[in-house]
Amino acid sequence: MAVLEGLTSQQIIELEEKHGAQNYHPLPVVLSRGEGVFVWDVEGKKYYDFLSAYSAVNQGHCHPKIIGALKNQAENLTLTSRAFYNDMLGRYEKFATEFFGFDKLLPMNTGAEAVETAMKLARKWGYEKKGIHSNQAKIIVCQNNFHGRTISIISASNDPLATENFGPFTPGIVSIRYDDLNALAEVLKDENVAAFLIEPIQGEAGVYVPDEDYIKEAYELCRAKNVLFIADEVQTGIARTGRLLAVDHSGIKPDILVLGKALSGGVLPVSAVLANNKVMDVIRPGNHGSTFGGNPLACAVAMAALEVVRDENLAENADKLGKLFRVEMEKLVEESELVRLVRGKGLLNAIVINDSEDSSTAWQICMALKENGLLAKPTHGNIIRFAPPLVMTEEELLECVSIIRKTILEFKG
Ligand SMILES: Cc1ncc(COP(=O)(O)O)c(C=O)c1O
Repeated sequence: MAVLEGLTSQQIIELEEKHGAQNYHPLPVVLSRGEGVFVWDVEGKKYYDFLSAYSAVNQGHCHPKIIGALKNQAENLTLTSRAFYNDMLGRYEKFATEFFGFDKLLPMNTGAEAVETAMKLARKWGYEKKGIHSNQAKIIVCQNNFHGRTISIISASNDPLATENFGPFTPGIVSIRYDDLNALAEVLKDENVAAFLIEPIQGEAGVYVPDEDYIKEAYELCRAKNVLFIADEVQTGIARTGRLLAVDHSGIKPDILVLGKALSGGVLPVSAVLANNKVMDVIRPGNHGSTFGGNPLACAVAMAALEVVRDENLAENADKLGKLFRVEMEKLVEESELVRLVRGKGLLNAIVINDSEDSSTAWQICMALKENGLLAKPTHGNIIRFAPPLVMTEEELLECVSIIRKTILEFKG
């Protein structure tokens, strides 16, 4: 590696451009260190991280407790595969199922894998418990969803960038409008529906928060039709929205819970599907698996990551700071023509920029924010998502608000 030492940001960006697949369009900043709510680029400039790796770093960068668990476990045992038992998986499964209130957990690695797992679980349950005829099971999804990148998952997507030229797609997926109970009631008339897969807040789509009663009523509609309610909380879960889970705002418990991202505090890929026995017990040896799923390193890290969420009251902090943030952003909406609205829950928020969807204004604002020491990224078109680590203090949040205010008010376009 010595030959690559001392490179500038520009040189590192060129390395990626030359040697890496161009499947992302990053903001031109090259980070080499992180601590808490801050990251530093290779030239030593310090930034507030206002994206948290798409809500994976809820516990802050390199949290000492989580890194301690990582180091400690790495010195003992990292991977056994599931061919053998390891002494961490059972402990982690007990801890996490009690933490979230489910009977069982199925461990995977990435968010997409966990969503795939939930879809497979729902289909199998549909055939074996609900009595759907072979190969007829349907899963309902919502338009503008984001559940990941595998072929079955993009089969549920209506984003042309994610789907074009990747067909043929997986059958048995029916898409309805988000936040539309009538549309849900209509598709639920079909007895072949096994599950409804939904993000309680659509994150990638631009932090769309549905109507107050939508999630609860959608859950009740599913229950009445013996259809599993699958909550994809890969982005919204683990304290991000001011509750442990975003569905907690609605007082419901999904039949299947999908977690990822912050389950490891952003340290390594850890995801999970949780369900009660009546659903999870359809899975038998050989039905599903992953070499790395449930590895002891991931188990140790995930337990520490959840302990941090609990011990540092991150949900309460996200709730409190989120309210403050939206009040401050509302003021900006009043003051600036550039910001149309702010929306979100807890510390998952977005501002909508007053320009056409295909304009580059949101990108230019993110570039200006970067110059002023704060990193954020547009989601779709003219929407900027704001999702800082949940370990932020009120003082730090107010400093970030003043950076955003200054940047927007001085923005020339
Ligand atoms: C709601 C949701 N589900 C699933 C995923 C996929 O997770 P991963 O990128 O770890 O595969 C994401 C990623 O952004 C997400 O936001």
